[in-house]
Amino acid sequence: MSSQKKSDSIASLDQMAKFTFTKNGIEQTFEFPLLSQTLGPEVIDIRELYTKTGYLTYDPGFTSTASCESSITFVDGEQGLLLHRGYSIQDLANHCDFLEVAYLLLYGEIPNQSQHEKFEENIIVHTMLHEQLINFYQGFRRDAHPMAIMVGVVGALSAFYHDSLDLKDPEQRELASYRLIAKMPSIAAMAYKYSVGQPFMYPRNELKYAENFLHMMFALPSYDYQVNKTVARALNKIFILHADHEQNASTSTVRLAGSSAANPFACIASGIASLWGPAHGGANEAVLNMLKEIGKKERIPEFLNRAKDKTDPFRLMGFGHRIYKNFDPRAVVLKESCHEVLEAVGVKNNPLFELALELERIALQDDYFIEKKLFPNVDFYSGIILQAIGIPLSMFTVLFAVARTVGWVSQWREMIADPVQKIGRPRQRYIGPSQRQFNPVKER
Ligand code: CMC
Repeated sequence: MSSQKKSDSIASLDQMAKFTFTKNGIEQTFEFPLLSQTLGPEVIDIRELYTKTGYLTYDPGFTSTASCESSITFVDGEQGLLLHRGYSIQDLANHCDFLEVAYLLLYGEIPNQSQHEKFEENIIVHTMLHEQLINFYQGFRRDAHPMAIMVGVVGALSAFYHDSLDLKDPEQRELASYRLIAKMPSIAAMAYKYSVGQPFMYPRNELKYAENFLHMMFALPSYDYQVNKTVARALNKIFILHADHEQNASTSTVRLAGSSAANPFACIASGIASLWGPAHGGANEAVLNMLKEIGKKERIPEFLNRAKDKTDPFRLMGFGHRIYKNFDPRAVVLKESCHEVLEAVGVKNNPLFELALELERIALQDDYFIEKKLFPNVDFYSGIILQAIGIPLSMFTVLFAVARTVGWVSQWREMIADPVQKIGRPRQRYIGPSQRQFNPVKER
């Protein structure tokens, strides 16, 4: 225990977990330290498992593996609890501005007024892009998916901002963090403008984060654009609800990429690529496509049967979660918001929303969904709100990426500062051929 690094000993319970392995009739018992968490189950420290026992563990999808220590976000799937630095997602979503939550995730404490203002100033000076970077967009086809543009342009930031690539320098890490958070809405809005052939709109720094994004998305140089406050409030909430979510696929991707000391822009680009998949951030787009395909309430049973049919690859998009097994607290906040937003933007009796509610009602009474604990997740409602506020379908996952950048950056910084951190290098269970005789091509 004494040889362990500082951050472990803080959490050590001074207790050991005992395991007995029997191989070839010989029984051996090994002990491994038990570590506590502030919240959540105890953790067995198996770092010495292989050297002590010669065994590896097999855990595809990391269902039982904690890949790191973190003090940023806590999720309890049974209770439907999501906390950022100890604050509930409901409180944050209902009372905060997005940059307030960004500060909390980055620095661990909720900012006071002057800290908030200073932070906002630090961010907004970086909202513009290097002019040469803007030329980068011309290399994409007009019909490129905006997520493809995001992966490319965010990765390219490392070719433009050489003064924020040195990971060992805390000031450079800070600068890279500001740049990523500030530039992401600009990069995202430009991806959209490019796809519709409209001129890029420069940021307006007197606007709040979500407002500025709406301005860059929807304003045109030829007329005066006023941001709709209700829409901006809804978007602010959506950004907060997507800001971080513990060690999900894209965050783990960012951490793994960063563990090799890759630069922060490259790491965040890798997170965007991972988020794109329909099992992760791409689900909000997939939900809308699915609702359109279902089309009318009468067809819901047909699609539910398909979702239950193991020979059919179709899954009910926006349903299910690796961790949440009762409800997704983000979905609860968004469901409430849905009514409010649809009313405020004058889209009462939205047929897709009605269809979504009916689908939810029927699925939640279905034995298959009850037994497997499948509930609507955050993507089920976010798509409907985004559609109601005029965000095009192909931009849904992009908005998720804009918001999640704050989480990725916070988790990346935490990893870099962690004394226990080392390059991520999972092992495998090899099931290929054992070593065999090689014959030159003429002899085969
Ligand atoms: N529709 C039908 N069956 C489902 C669904 C679904 N949406 N989700 C899970 N199942 C079934 C699955 O077939 C499996 O059945 P069985 O035990 O008979 O093999 C069981 O439920 C457990 O599912 P799993 O795939 O082992 O669970 P997982 O934790 O690996 O996957 C998930 C979680 C979110 C990828 C999955 O539920 C899914 O594909 N949902 C639809 C896509 C979606 O909405 N994704 C957004 C997730 S939330 C936002 C985010 O994190 O990005």
